[in-house]
Amino acid sequence: MKGNNGGIKADLLITGASQLVTLAGPPGPRRGRSMQDIGVIENGALAALGEKIVAVGTSAEVKERVILEDGSQVVDAGGRVVMPGFVDPHTHPVYAGSREHELALKLAGRSYLEILKSGGGILSTVRATRAASREDLAEQTARRLDLLLEHGVTTAEAKSGYGLSLEHEIRSLEVLRELNRRHPVDLIPTFMGAHAVPPEYRDNPGRYVDLVIGEMIPAVASDGLAEYCDVFCEEGVFDTEQSEKILCAGLALGLKPRIHADELADTGGAALAARLGAVTADHLLFASDQGIEALAEAGVMAVLLPCTSFNLASGRYARARKMLEANLAVAISTDCNPGSSPTQSMQLAITLACLYLRMTPEEAITAATLNGAWAVGMGNLAGSLEPGKLADVLIIDAPNYLHLPYHFGVNLIHSVFKRGTLVYSRSRVRRNSKEAWR
Ligand code: NIG
Ligand code: FE
Repeated sequence: MKGNNGGIKADLLITGASQLVTLAGPPGPRRGRSMQDIGVIENGALAALGEKIVAVGTSAEVKERVILEDGSQVVDAGGRVVMPGFVDPHTHPVYAGSREHELALKLAGRSYLEILKSGGGILSTVRATRAASREDLAEQTARRLDLLLEHGVTTAEAKSGYGLSLEHEIRSLEVLRELNRRHPVDLIPTFMGAHAVPPEYRDNPGRYVDLVIGEMIPAVASDGLAEYCDVFCEEGVFDTEQSEKILCAGLALGLKPRIHADELADTGGAALAARLGAVTADHLLFASDQGIEALAEAGVMAVLLPCTSFNLASGRYARARKMLEANLAVAISTDCNPGSSPTQSMQLAITLACLYLRMTPEEAITAATLNGAWAVGMGNLAGSLEPGKLADVLIIDAPNYLHLPYHFGVNLIHSVFKRGTLVYSRSRVRRNSKEAWR
């Protein structure tokens, strides 16, 4: 928008970024080598009007070009890094309770799938989720969204999948819809009724698949409660045939497919994702060369979850280099969930992506922002700092972006702006408090 004298009107101005990491470039997910390009502007600045970015450039350029409205917010980034909010394309935030006791079982040598088979794992979270009141479920979920936001996530895909009955899956998606209205983090909802077979269908999993297809998907689609449909396609959970049936039923009613594929074994999940033209194939630790080739040919994005590999502690990580060489677009995610990845830290995902997926810092940052946005259908609005996109902006407490993978295990987020509004800023330590105690 142009002001009277040709300047650009703005009501938020952030200047003094040591590096403004813009990720600017042609629209579309970045593949292969182009994931290196993160568009850094030294001594950068950004201006926004309302929810949208209106100008990006060096501090001198932007100050020169904008005309600030009365009451504008002017922020000096103080030589810190300014970058787009993280877009987390794979989370399971709507559940009750926690599973900290499984750590001891894991240390005693029980595998993830063994714990699930004996009625623990996902199924113990299903019991807690069903037993919680709607208000309690919403409050626990909101607290996880707070943590995502405090760690720099401004947009997240969010899956149901701990209800596993018509009533409880719908309730989980309704909680997500309600939170999407009132919480700053933008949520993109995914129906994942096929996350596990609930105990009532243990002896007849086929009937559960029928319920997902015949009742849950139609109810979810007719209420517009989800944009995507996801399936845990895994040995001992849903096989490729069941997964295909479920994803096709979703697709027929407008729910776009995404798949938990080849996480714990090569079950042909990547090939299935390619065959169905899924938007993403996620995990992919055991994806075969042919699976990766098929994803590349079909243009399916790979969503890699290094925090899950880290926490499963099997030493196995997805073959990101192979995928990048095959010219796949790669995104990374927290996989925030109570079992395989109880974390809200995309910063940890970036560190692990560099150290164990062998991605460069630039590739990991692209994967955590721009490609995440394209992986959830938000590429035109989020994931980069460009005029016309949402002013979802992080100030990172570091002089350059290499600190993101390097300085791990601490929260480097200084401030978070969501749609142009400051929604988080970190509080300060009272360094001289001892003087008061003496
Ligand atoms: O992405 N793999 C299936 N779903 C989650 C784990 C869910 C859980 O353990 O509660 C995942 O790893
Ligand atoms: Fe998951």
